[in-house]
Amino acid sequence: MTTTEQDLGKLYKENLSFWEQAWQRVSKPHKELPKLPYIHELTRKLKKYQVKKVLDLGCGSGWLSIFMSKYHFDVTGIDTAKPAVELGKTWAKEDNVNVNLLVSDLLNLPFEEKSFDAVVCNSVLEHFRFDQAKTIIDKVHKILSDKGFFFGCFDAVGTGKGEYFELNDGTHVYTDQMRKGMMLRNYTDQELKDLLSNFDILSFDKNNYGSRLVWARKK
Ligand SMILES: C[S@@+](CC[C@H](N)C(=O)[O-])C[C@H]1O[C@@H](n2cnc3c(N)ncnc32)[C@H](O)[C@@H]1O
Repeated sequence: MTTTEQDLGKLYKENLSFWEQAWQRVSKPHKELPKLPYIHELTRKLKKYQVKKVLDLGCGSGWLSIFMSKYHFDVTGIDTAKPAVELGKTWAKEDNVNVNLLVSDLLNLPFEEKSFDAVVCNSVLEHFRFDQAKTIIDKVHKILSDKGFFFGCFDAVGTGKGEYFELNDGTHVYTDQMRKGMMLRNYTDQELKDLLSNFDILSFDKNNYGSRLVWARKK
């Protein structure tokens, strides 16, 4: 099947509505932190390098943004789903945390060059085609300060149950009722390295769940 630019645009919009609707079903912030040991290591490392301003890409309801704000980083979280951002704002208010949460599409990041010292991204770029993820990472490179850091957790996904069709670059587009419209792609190690070709990769690890944890620094 040939997929035209128009088809790709439509599929992308359906993916965005999938997220909007998924978050609409969540009625209150889920405040329990995910069991991800890396988050403690991450804050330690960023403190060591005197990082101050952090951008959390695809922050969802904001657990990572709020967690990092509690460690006194100046954090901006950004997500396309308004209900997710609203949940995050409620959470921040309830916990008296100062964090900047915004609704925006990662493909149009509304920031000036060199605005952040670090960008973090947990389980998000799996929901973009490769060319889109590359566009986002290239923009991330611009908005990072000199020698700024990128940390990404990329899950092993797209191999489980569900009905989907596949785009040319291997991205799955789900058609079953539960995940209708959601795009999901599993990156090879090489694709992740290609994505970050403008960065020095400082570490590249796999955890027990098969997620790749990539820590990189702007060249
Ligand atoms: C699997 S969730 C991860 C959320 C959060 N980072 C976490 O660790 O819980 C993926 C997130 O990406 C967001 N997202 C998907 N496409 C997006 C886009 N184009 N721009 C901004 N956020 C997007 C979704 O709304 C969702 O909150």
